[in-house]
Formats: sequence, C-alpha cells, structure tokens
Amino acid sequence: MNNITVIGSGTMGNGIAHVFAQNGYKVSLVDINQAALDKALATISRNMDRQVAKGSLSEEDKNTALSKIKTFTSLKAGIEHADLVIEAATENLQIKLDLFKQLDELSKDEAILATNTSSISITKIAAATTRPDKVIGMHFMNPVPVMKLVEVIRGYATSDEVTAKIMDLSKKLDKIPVEVNDYPGFVANRILMPMINEAIYTLYESVAGVEEIDTVMKLGMAHPMGPLQLADFIGLDVCLSILRVLHEGFGNPKYAPCPLLVNMVEAGFKGVKTGEGFYKYT
Ligand code: CAA
Repeated sequence: MNNITVIGSGTMGNGIAHVFAQNGYKVSLVDINQAALDKALATISRNMDRQVAKGSLSEEDKNTALSKIKTFTSLKAGIEHADLVIEAATENLQIKLDLFKQLDELSKDEAILATNTSSISITKIAAATTRPDKVIGMHFMNPVPVMKLVEVIRGYATSDEVTAKIMDLSKKLDKIPVEVNDYPGFVANRILMPMINEAIYTLYESVAGVEEIDTVMKLGMAHPMGPLQLADFIGLDVCLSILRVLHEGFGNPKYAPCPLLVNMVEAGFKGVKTGEGFYKYT
C-alpha cells in the first residue's frame, strides 16, 4: 500500500495526512473546497515546524513530506489510485453512508476503505458498500502526530487479511495499533466518555469547580489534561454525540449525557473550536 487517500481535511484528516506523508506514503487529501485544503496544508506545515524545532524532523524531510501531499476537490480524481482510503469527514451517519457508497463505486476493487469514526458502527458503514470485508475502522487520536494509538476496529464482516494489513500499516507509521471489535464506542470512547460525563455531573452537582475537578485528575491520576479541558479539546458536540451513541446502543441509563453538557452544546459553547466551553479560549 503506497497510495493513501484521506477524505476530509479538518483536524483529524490533516493529522492523518501529516503522519502518512512523513512516513513516505503518497497522500491525496480530498475536501469539498480548496480553501479548506489550503488551510490544512498550512496547519501540517506548522505542525511539522514544531517537530523541526525540537529536532525530531529535519527541514529537508519536512519538505519531502509536504511534497508527497496532493490536494483534490474532486472525489473521483482523489481516490482513483488509492490502495487505502481513510475517511475523516463530518461525524454524521447519513453523510458517511452516502460517502462510502460513492467510495465503493469510485475506488479500485481491491482498495481498503477505512473510517476514522469515533463512534459510528463500522458494520453499518460497511453495509453501504459491496465490499464489507474490506471496510475497517482506523481510529487515530488527536493530536494525530503525537498520540501513539491507532484503535483498529473490525466490523462484523471485516476479513482477517484486511485487519492484518491495517495493523501492519499502523506499525509502519510508528504507531501502536490495538485491535478491537465493533460495539458502541469501541474501547477508547466507551471508557473515556463516561469519565468525561461524570466530570460534568460532578460540576453540575456543584461538588467542585472546573479547575478543581481537572486538577484532581491531572495531579491525582497523571492525566495530561483534566477531563473538562479534554472535553473542550475534543469538542463538546462530539462528546455529546458519542454519549448518545453509547446510550442508544446499550440502552443503559449510565450513559445518559449530563443535562449541563446538552445545554452547553445547544447554546453553542462547544469548547476550543467556538472559543468557549468549560474554559475560555482567546
Ligand atoms: N503536531 C505535532 N506536534 C504536536 C502537535 C501537533 N498537532 N501538538 C502538540 N505537539 C507536540 C509539541 O510540539 C510538544 O513537543 P515537545 O514536548 O517535544 O516539545 C508536545 O507535542 C507537547 O505539546 P505542548 O508542549 O504544546 O503541550 P502539552 O505538553 O500540554 O501537550 C498534548 C499537549 C499532547 C495535547 C497533551 O496535553 C495531551 O496528551 N493531551 C491529551 C490528548 C488526548 O487525550 N487525546 C485523545 C483525545 S480523544 C480522541 O482524539 C478520539 C476521540 O474519538 C474523541
């Protein structure tokens, strides 16, 4: 696998393109408008500068990596040579189902179709294609160039061969892949989101303030970010939608999103991306 197409150039998409290009793969980055693609290239360049500044990447390797990324606003042109397509588009079931139907029609028969979804069922997405054995979850963590984990999620019909290829490829990116099965929230978010939700309930019930809750978890449990800061970083709307997938998928009230989280999202306080969540960002 040498030709990789990444669909969606937002935070996750540009991070995934960054990591593949840095490891020598040819990357086609696809988005619906050129302005988003230009912004993504500037972000990748800036993030590579951080690596150059600390000596983990040379200026020359940075330029080689950047030259491996081509941008496309046409899905057809962007995926025609792909050996692997990784979808990192909006986290919306209908958008993903429509997109996978098109990916299936437009890509090479042997191409593997992966999704970076954080909680939508791989099995459901695979069922929109004629190749469910070649559909798999490849869940990177934010910030992609820094975080070591790739959660590799097998849908109900994903083949052993495709799973082995994706596990192997993830290692070639200098990541540590972990294979899991397709149930709501997989493993990462099934465990992370109830912790974040509980932190929000702790605030909602006035047990402690925002900074106090985060300090307890940072200093007491050695988490790099407290759960409320992490929720802002992930996006409160994303946290809410994952909790809803868990709540609906298991039918268990323990996953019910805290009313404070629902209110904040409805009011437009979605965390870092909107300038305010549990903290203010200028
Ligand atoms: N690209 C390249 N390098 C980056 C980077 C990026 N986008 N972001 C940060 N870095 C580098 C920095 O240059 C820095 O490098 P050095 O330490 O070598 O100097 C290092 O990462 C640490 O960054 P900072 O000094 O800016 O700040 P920090 O020490 O506070 O670390 C952090 C930032 C890495 C984000 C850290 O706070 C952290 O690990 N937070 C938790 C992140 C996490 O839990 N992510 C998973 C979220 S869940 C998810 O993604 C999936 C989902 O489905 C919701």
